[in-house]
Amino acid sequence: MISLHRIPGEQAPLALLLEADPSTDAIARYLADGHCVVARLDDAVVGVYVIKTLSAATWELMNIAVAPERQGRGIGALLLHHAIDQARQLGAKRLELGTGSFGHQLTFYQRAGFRVVAVEPDYFLQHYPEPLFENGLQHRDRLRLVLEL
Ligand SMILES: CC(C)(COP(=O)(O)OP(=O)(O)OC[C@H]1O[C@@H](n2cnc3c(N)ncnc32)[C@H](O)[C@@H]1OP(=O)(O)O)[C@@H](O)C(=O)NCCC(=O)NCCS
Repeated sequence: MISLHRIPGEQAPLALLLEADPSTDAIARYLADGHCVVARLDDAVVGVYVIKTLSAATWELMNIAVAPERQGRGIGALLLHHAIDQARQLGAKRLELGTGSFGHQLTFYQRAGFRVVAVEPDYFLQHYPEPLFENGLQHRDRLRLVLEL
């Protein structure tokens, strides 16, 4: 049985957060003032998300990740819908995020209603220390997605 719990940033599961974001510095920055929720299955942490306020009305989903061996079973969708509800309850009118321009993550967000509002060309080339490949294709451009709440 999966249960969701808000936890303090210093207790966040770093290994899981690194599945979605390779930068420990960036993770430390948004954990400091973010709202972190974990999914537990029995006693194990199997998923996590972090949302953070950008302005009173706009929050950003900074990270969402599910343990590799637990992916594809609905835990990600459960966390994403919880993040949307939390942002709404915290007063957000929109939830934003940045993601790659192709791949299952993009469809994952689009299924929840997120729309593409901008492209940041070469973002992954400029901000990531290592080339990022998925299905043999290199990620170059980052998309900004928004869900109006
Ligand atoms: C993105 C992520 C959080 C989704 O979590 P999840 O628990 O696998 O998601 P769900 O089981 O709720 O699946 C949602 C949908 O995505 C699809 N999906 C999930 N993982 C997939 C994969 N590896 N390949 C293809 N499709 C996948 C599922 O088929 C599912 O579609 P369906 O509802 O039509 O069956 C998870 O894949 C993950 O942690 N990835 C690594 C970190 C990451 O990339 N985070 C996002 C950074 S932008």
